Amino acid sequence: MAETVEVTVQRYNPETDSAPRLQTYEVPYKDDWVVLDAILYIKDHLDATLSYRWSCRMGICGSCGMNVDGHPKLTCSAHLREYRRGFTVEPLSNFPVIRDLVVDIDDFMAKLKSVKPWIVRELEQPLGDGEYLQSNNQIDHYRQFSQCINCMLCYAACPVYGMEPEFLGPAAIALARRYNLDSRDEGTVERVNVLAASEGIWECSCIGECSVACPKGVDPAKAIQQTKFDTVNGAIMSTMLMPFGNRR
Ligand code: FES
Repeated sequence: MAETVEVTVQRYNPETDSAPRLQTYEVPYKDDWVVLDAILYIKDHLDATLSYRWSCRMGICGSCGMNVDGHPKLTCSAHLREYRRGFTVEPLSNFPVIRDLVVDIDDFMAKLKSVKPWIVRELEQPLGDGEYLQSNNQIDHYRQFSQCINCMLCYAACPVYGMEPEFLGPAAIALARRYNLDSRDEGTVERVNVLAASEGIWECSCIGECSVACPKGVDPAKAIQQTKFDTVNGAIMSTMLMPFGNRR
């Protein structure tokens, strides 16, 4: 008899359900499948009403994040063989649910945009002058933080974001750090107002679950602590450089 595995999925349609409920499906077990394959099987063969997000199936697009047995995972990278005894799939924590496993990402997108995760230049050089060149050493300064795929697993893992939804959050700060460290960027001063605001870096209590959850090794906790250090350092330096008569 073909092997199967029990997959319990959170279902919720805000238009018809008063509360989320769990539904269990019997799915074929295949050693080379990932959790997303099991969810796709449910959609294709058992229950076409199930809603979820996915796209690339290769850990790049960041759209297939869900809680698997309570832990935020990229379901296209979570092997079924690690959940052989059955598992539960729920939407990412800390986000409003639109339907079943689909969460509302508007808050995350607004926070991301607020840190200007792109290269800010005071003056663009003319196109004819060619590229802004960088050495490998300069790229190494920000390479780790550039691996973020905006999957939001770090927000689902962050207890501070869970309690304080205003918190700017791990990925937005890591991406701000990525551009602040980029030799081509001149936007650090513009970003500091957002980063050092009361909902920014100082909200983080250094629990580090964001870095544990990150599937790309970005280490947002490191980005946050480095940004705290730089912000304090910058404030001290600007005070020291200020003429005595102007200090308050
Ligand atoms: S489907 Fe793109 S990261 Fe999983």
